[in-house]
Formats: sequence, structure tokens, C-alpha cells
Amino acid sequence: MTTVTMKTRSRLKSNFPLVFILLLGGILVMNLSFSPYTEDISFILADPVTIESIPAGCKAEVPITSALFDLNERIGNDMEQNCSYTLSDLPTTAVTVLQQQVRDAVKVWGYDKKVDFKKKPLTALLDARRLLDLGMGQGPWGAAMLSNPKLNLEYYVGLDPAVCPPIHARTRDMKVKRKGKQLQCQKAYGTTNTTDPRVLSCTGGLAKYHPFPVNGLEMMAAYPGQVALLPGTFETLHSKLSKVVFDAVLVKTVTEHLEHLHSVFEGLWELLGHCSSHATIVIDHHNYYSYDGHHGYPQSSEQLNENPPPEMLELADWGHINPEASVAADRTLNRVRPGDLQALLNVYFDCECMQSPIPKIDEKRFDSAMESRLSKLGFARHEFMAKHLYFQCNRRAEPLKPELVQTMILHHPPMDGSYRAQPFHCKSA
Ligand SMILES: C[S@@+](CC[C@H](N)C(=O)[O-])C[C@H]1O[C@@H](n2cnc3c(N)ncnc32)[C@H](O)[C@@H]1O
Repeated sequence: MTTVTMKTRSRLKSNFPLVFILLLGGILVMNLSFSPYTEDISFILADPVTIESIPAGCKAEVPITSALFDLNERIGNDMEQNCSYTLSDLPTTAVTVLQQQVRDAVKVWGYDKKVDFKKKPLTALLDARRLLDLGMGQGPWGAAMLSNPKLNLEYYVGLDPAVCPPIHARTRDMKVKRKGKQLQCQKAYGTTNTTDPRVLSCTGGLAKYHPFPVNGLEMMAAYPGQVALLPGTFETLHSKLSKVVFDAVLVKTVTEHLEHLHSVFEGLWELLGHCSSHATIVIDHHNYYSYDGHHGYPQSSEQLNENPPPEMLELADWGHINPEASVAADRTLNRVRPGDLQALLNVYFDCECMQSPIPKIDEKRFDSAMESRLSKLGFARHEFMAKHLYFQCNRRAEPLKPELVQTMILHHPPMDGSYRAQPFHCKSA
């Protein structure tokens, strides 16, 4: 097993001569044998000094995977595109040039400012050095994190069925506001035609998702040995990552899109049991039951002052809790109940839960009549008041009461009163 150890910044100061020799040795090894992209993508290994308990046999090698785009039809990427890549596909442009291009792109697209991780529990990521980003999108988060000098990242492994390193994938532009959801707009204009001009204007067309100026291969080559972008779902990839050491896992606004929540968290528990049992997991869940949890229009009751056309009011004021609502049929929008998500996580992980509330202006619209109607259907008021749920978790040695999972409906639970969810307890963030 090739071992290149790196010292942390604080140790650099106290052990300078030793560190200097190690670094020199490290550089030599890197030049001789540590082409970061050899047969597999390989990374600088974890530091055995700061992480005492790395089991033998763990090495930071991430296999390149091949996959076809899988969830990208809705954002306009080419479904037939083969997303596999080999090492010879990596551009040979100078690293400094590529890094500048990447920095410019993440800035223009608004990713740079969003990796400040100021809010708890995202602050846990400030110390993370080996990060797994589960459901990362098309790649810019990794580039933004690596180019942020405040973060301490040694390497970033991101996976997503929507990444395709060889192409300039249509990627979410953080500076463009969300408009109507596809199903919401089709229903509003009584058509299934996705290219109907009224539907395009209602969803905002491809403005929010358009081709990112640097592709995934360029992002990886800009940070050699530090970024791996893997196309595929967590379910298909996780077993291949078992020998990689992670000290943090980020699951940011992904859980509300997962169809197989249980498989993902069971898989994460398994994965972390190999080389990363110490890892901190940070989950940011956008709650479907909050005012804007439908992911469509309006995002806030303030937008109702813009005099939207009546057909765009379907989801306003918790219209999405209606089982017949357009978005209720969207399989990519999971409406897991907050208590069920918490109970599922609790089986595999020991988690602290924090919540951010919906804005006061929206809260005021949840009147007593609405509360009384929804409580008869088995909902509690506070399920509607939490906008984001944040969980900071650590792996349990053994699952706790795993049989509970069988009693829960974790994807599209009925909203007609026939289903009772697990209780939900979370403190304010
Ligand atoms: C709202 S995006 C969030 C992307 C990124 N984490 C962010 O914060 O911008 C949700 C992502 O989850 C990904 N996703 C959906 N199912 C997944 C799965 N089974 N495994 C991994 N990622 C998945 C989607 O492709 C999508 O990119």
C-alpha cells in the first residue's frame, strides 16, 4: 500500500524539521509514483497521527466508474451520453490555468459564497479533511470547497447520478431563482407538452440549469489527486468506496429527493463501518411540509403580492399537502415525514437534530382552521413550521431497533389521514 502522510497545519509548526523531511519525501514519492490518476483515482492517504484508529487495509483509492446519465432528463442533459472516463481523458492544461478557470466559474455561478458553512451543523465541515459528498449535483461544490482557503480539505469525493465528467453538464445556477415545478406548470396550463412556451416561461426553462463552463474532467485535473466526481447513485457506488477514509459525509438537500431512503442510510452505515467509523455525517433536509417544500411556486407568501395568475396558486399556503396536488405525484420529490426521517436515521446513527423555521410571514398564514383540518389527518403543527432539518450524526456500532423501519412509509406516505408518522423532536438551529 502506497503511503504518503501529510501533517496538519498545527503540527507543521511544532515539528518543522521532521515535517520538512516528510514533505520532501512526500514530494519525491508523488513525482515518482503518485501520479494522482494512475489506474484508479488515488488520493493522499489519511494522516495516521491525527486519526489514530484507521484500520489496516484502508487506502484512499477511488475507482473510476462508468454510468449513463440517469436523472438528467428533467434538466435537459443528454440521456445517451456515456459518462465513463479514463485517466487519459484528463486534460493536460497547466493546473494553475485550470484552477483559475474553476475559481472564475464557481464565482460566476454563485457556489463560492455558499461554502462558508457558517451555520450549525454545517460548521462541522470546516474541519473536515476527507469529504464524501453524497448527491453533490454536477461537481461545482467540490471545486468551490477546494478553492476555498478557509477549508481544510485534503480530498473531495462526490457522487451523483447527475454528474457526467466528460461533458459540460447542465448545472444548477445558484444565482437564478427557482420558478414553477414542471408538473405544477403543466397542470396550470392543462398540457403535458414540456416545450409549450407557457410551460417554459412558468418553469423558467433551462435558465436555472445550463451548461457549466468547466466540465468534471477539468475540475478533477485542476485539483490533481484531490477531487473525484463519480457518476452514479449512492446505491450503485457505495460498496466501491469501502477502503476510502472519510472523516465527513455531506448529504445536502438530497434526502428530499431520494426514492430509496432506507437503502441509502443502511448503505452509508455499512460503508462507514469499514474505514470511516469516526466520520461525522451532516444532513441538510429541505422539508416537504414547509411553506416552500413543494420546490415550486411560490417560495414565500411574499410572492403572492406580485399578483400571480390564479393558475399559479395551486401550491400556495400548503396546497401541496393535498394528495391531488401536481407535485404530490413527482417521484423525485420525496415527502418523507420529518419524524420518520429522524426515526430512520436513529436506527443507524446517533444524531443531533436542529431545524430552521419557515419565515414569520409564512407562519402567519397557517391559521387555526388549517391547523385543525390537518391535525385530523394526523399532522402536527410543527411539521409545517420547519423549513430545513439539519442532522449531525455519528455511526452506531450496531443498528438500533431496525424492525421499526418496516413500519414506516418513507417515500410518498399517504396524506389522506390513513398514515401516522413517527413523532418528531428537533431543537431550533
Ligand atoms: C437538490 S440536488 C442537491 C445537489 C447538491 N447537494 C446541492 O446542495 O446543490 C439533489 C441531488 O441528489 C441527487 N440524487 C438523487 N438520487 C440520488 C441517489 N440515489 N444517490 C445519489 N444522489 C442522488 C440528484 O441527482 C441531485 O443532484
